[in-house]
Amino acid sequence: MVRGMRNTVSAADLSVYREDFPGLRATMHGKALTFLDSAASAQKPEVVLSAMDSVLREGYANIHRGLYEISQNLTADFEAVRGKVARFIGAPAAGEIVFTRNATEAINLVAQSWGKTYLCAGDEIVLTEMEHHANIVPWQILRDQIGLTIRVLPVDDDGELILDQLGDILGPRTRLVSFTYVSNALGTVNPVGEIVRRVKAYNPDIVTLVDASQGVVHRRIDVSALGTDFLVFTGHKLYGPTGIGVLYGRKMLLESMPPYQGGGDMIESVSFERTTFKSPPQRFEAGTPPIVEVIGLGAAIDYVWSLGLSDIESWESRLLAIGTNALESIEGLRLYGRARDKASILSFTIDGIHPGDLGMILDQCGVAVRVGHHCCMPLMRRLGLDATCRASLALYSNEDDINNLVTGLHKAIRLLA
Ligand code: ALA
Repeated sequence: MVRGMRNTVSAADLSVYREDFPGLRATMHGKALTFLDSAASAQKPEVVLSAMDSVLREGYANIHRGLYEISQNLTADFEAVRGKVARFIGAPAAGEIVFTRNATEAINLVAQSWGKTYLCAGDEIVLTEMEHHANIVPWQILRDQIGLTIRVLPVDDDGELILDQLGDILGPRTRLVSFTYVSNALGTVNPVGEIVRRVKAYNPDIVTLVDASQGVVHRRIDVSALGTDFLVFTGHKLYGPTGIGVLYGRKMLLESMPPYQGGGDMIESVSFERTTFKSPPQRFEAGTPPIVEVIGLGAAIDYVWSLGLSDIESWESRLLAIGTNALESIEGLRLYGRARDKASILSFTIDGIHPGDLGMILDQCGVAVRVGHHCCMPLMRRLGLDATCRASLALYSNEDDINNLVTGLHKAIRLLA
């Protein structure tokens, strides 16, 4: 058994649900699609497509504004998704869920609203070496605006955070620790609850933010149990549409924060002299919200719930073990990311072949993978790489996908090595 792999021999085969995903029927270069890029964006089940289609065809109107029936009904459906998201991540109240455009916007919201209000020159924020650029750049912008220091928790050669160094990195000026649940580049699943506990034990006033964009897809999340102050994720990796993200924030924190953007729907009253704002979450949702996308996200959550996150985790872990063994049998292939707890992401290089060339050959074989730095340039640098080839598995993945990947890689080796 591969390091960190659970015994998931009896996992239910969820790939029987492939039929639910019309996008998997696409072809590339005349070949049946082998879709191994779900960490970039997942395919959508029919129920998500039809929920969004129904909204547009059978009762579409703007929400929060119309006194008429279809607007009122859609407003109720939209707000019901807020409650559903809260239950999905174990948030105590629907009012702690803010809809954003994506996870990136949610982090920018926290940086520019909470960060700009409560942090000052000389304060420190802690990130990790495995962060996606979305959890680095917003903090650098804030750093340059107000004079913060960013400190970085390193990763080891297996792609795990070196938690023993957390104590040295936290300090009297630490105000925020912001880190990912699951590395999108390596699949490392971080011990989020433990990290939050250690941070809060050091100083309960340090705010924590968890980027769960990948985490929410592969693990059941309970923000109350994790004890984090903020958590963000995006809809399109969770089998939902693009254009919808979620910010969970503790009620007291959200209430203490000024608006991020101004506009309609977030105000109580406006005059040219003075504007007063609604309470959260509406305070942070300026303008017409992504109505159709929120409905789609609700359908995606129902779908994931109906399959069960623990069954999804078991199936993906089984595939990960199979994929790891299959890739390790390829001569010259180097696998990156050997964390004890790992989600279904396989990042690798092959000696003597540029990952870009691998990606091109795989494309010709109908195999879709992501090639590049995966928006994690600091992590790539830490690993001494410019790029990897990344195959990411989802609930609908199966052994054929892995076999097609391996066949494509052998072809690339024959042609290029
Ligand atoms: N963050 C997405 C990825 O990992 C786009 O590919």
